[in-house]
Amino acid sequence: MLKVVIIVGTRPQIIKSSPIIKKGAESDKISISIIHTGQHYDYEMAKVFFNELELPTPVADLGVGSGSHAYQTGEIMLRLEPILVKEDPDIVIVPGDTNSALAAALTAVKLGYPVAHVEAGARCYDMRMAEEINVRFIDHCSSLLFAVSTRCYENLIRESVLGEICLSGDTMYDVFLSHINRALSSNILDRLDLEENEYAVMTLHRAENVDKPSRLRGILRAIMEVIDIKVVFPAHPRTRKRMQEFGIEIRNPNLLTVKPLSYDDMLGLLLRAKLVITDSGGLQKEALWSRVPCITLRERTEWVETVECGVNILAGTSEVNIKRAIRSVLKHYDDIKARFSVIKNPYGDGKAAERIVKKILNRETD
Ligand code: UD1
Repeated sequence: MLKVVIIVGTRPQIIKSSPIIKKGAESDKISISIIHTGQHYDYEMAKVFFNELELPTPVADLGVGSGSHAYQTGEIMLRLEPILVKEDPDIVIVPGDTNSALAAALTAVKLGYPVAHVEAGARCYDMRMAEEINVRFIDHCSSLLFAVSTRCYENLIRESVLGEICLSGDTMYDVFLSHINRALSSNILDRLDLEENEYAVMTLHRAENVDKPSRLRGILRAIMEVIDIKVVFPAHPRTRKRMQEFGIEIRNPNLLTVKPLSYDDMLGLLLRAKLVITDSGGLQKEALWSRVPCITLRERTEWVETVECGVNILAGTSEVNIKRAIRSVLKHYDDIKARFSVIKNPYGDGKAAERIVKKILNRETD
């Protein structure tokens, strides 16, 4: 029996790991245990997803919580090391680009355990973003690299990584497909008093967007000035905290600030939205799969394919550019919407987890 440890710590990592954990549970040749770093710790950011995605309880929760990058990374490494030694896995799976992922990969590789990186090769080529730094280091110390798209695959070839690269597709797409029906039966629209196709969904959490009062104010002002439909804003705890610190109060009744949503509720909201406005990575792809035009509040994105498909518009982060981008999307809305019927999903076929588990199992015998 191959012993695998998968290390998660944040909301998106739990979601993208879930199909791998489930696929693993179907096989008697592999046992996958979960370690949670505790980078995300609120019920709405962690436990809710374990319940909803029916995941087993982690064998350990490192309880690291919030802090600076050095604190989070260093503290996770210190707390993880003895647990990994005790678990003594054959391979360690690390998903995504977070501080938890970086700390997990470094700890594992230095203990001599091979690392499998899920979502390898994603690059936005902006080293000011913590996530870009993290993925570069993780990719270069991984033995197995699972790329979600051919572009990610090619990025890794170009960087001459030492590990073996596999084009797996995106496990987020696996989860998306398996939850569509549940998401469509979520009553989130009724709960928020929304009509299908008459609202936008907005998420905002990147440090560069929410940690500076002028930037955060500018973004919120731009959105509320240009959009005349309701905007549902499931506020990330980081963003909520900053808004309180900066004394930002939302008085516009069209902007519905709500707590972070469960996966099915979020997907239910997304699938019936008119527009997505976000600085998240995952949501750009989920908007494409939901066939909803997306406006991304960043200068660069690692999910270049969504932009090339013409359904994700990179707006930048200044107030004036955001307003311009939203106006342009609303003006050309029907054209953008029409593109969904001709584009091919660049992120796989919904069977990424199956490929990942198979590859890990066959690794020794390849
Ligand atoms: C992290 C990841 C990012 C990922 C995102 C998804 C890094 C560098 N960033 O960003 O790649 O897209 O998660 O959400 O790893 N907080 C709470 N409760 C929680 C979690 C966070 O209050 O359950 C607050 C704390 O104030 C904390 C802040 O959010 O200081 C930031 O949390 P942190 O884990 O540093 O990063 P995220 O912004 O969530």
